[in-house]
Amino acid sequence: DSEVIQELKNSLNQYPNFPQEGILFEDFLPIFRSPDLFNKLIQVFKNHIEKKFASVKIDYVVGLEARGFLFAPTLALALNAGFIPVRKQGKLPGKTVSATFQKEYGEDVFEIQSEDIKTNANVIIVDDILATGGSAGAAGNLFQKVNANILEFIFVMELDFLKGRDKLPAPVYTLFGDQKEALK
Ligand code: PRP
Ligand code: MG
Repeated sequence: DSEVIQELKNSLNQYPNFPQEGILFEDFLPIFRSPDLFNKLIQVFKNHIEKKFASVKIDYVVGLEARGFLFAPTLALALNAGFIPVRKQGKLPGKTVSATFQKEYGEDVFEIQSEDIKTNANVIIVDDILATGGSAGAAGNLFQKVNANILEFIFVMELDFLKGRDKLPAPVYTLFGDQKEALK
């Protein structure tokens, strides 16, 4: 898969000074404009998971609002797993659990619907990019609260100098490690 990963990486667009001066924005949306690249993205993740967790039934693929929603449901279907969205506070009806985390400016709160989640569910949590690990850490927290078994966190990109993975309660797989200059 390493050629495919390189091809996916080459398709990213860089935008200097967005959303702020001094930040190089790595845009992964070109992947979704191409059915071929989109399919390759899903297949690479699927191959990785099926190899690493060969004998494990994946119950849910979890996507983080908003950019995690772009591909988590597709990956879930490819793995014959369910999809669970992690949403910003106040969007979900019914019984919910929440977790607070630090953003660049102030705090944010993530929620999931806690009814009807299988007990001891095997989950994979996915998002576009791992930066400080605040968002993914809060998502991990939510699934610990509902007694899920978090198998792995999966990202397309990682700002590894921020050491976000140290905050996460399960192993981390990133398609393209080390986005040295990039920021979200
Ligand atoms: C971005 C990105 C990740 C998160 C990573 O989301 O999509 O979810 O930040 O940062 P962290 O590791 O420091 O938490 P953001 O909330 O900015 O926007 P989005 O709603 O477009 O996904
Ligand atoms: Mg996000």
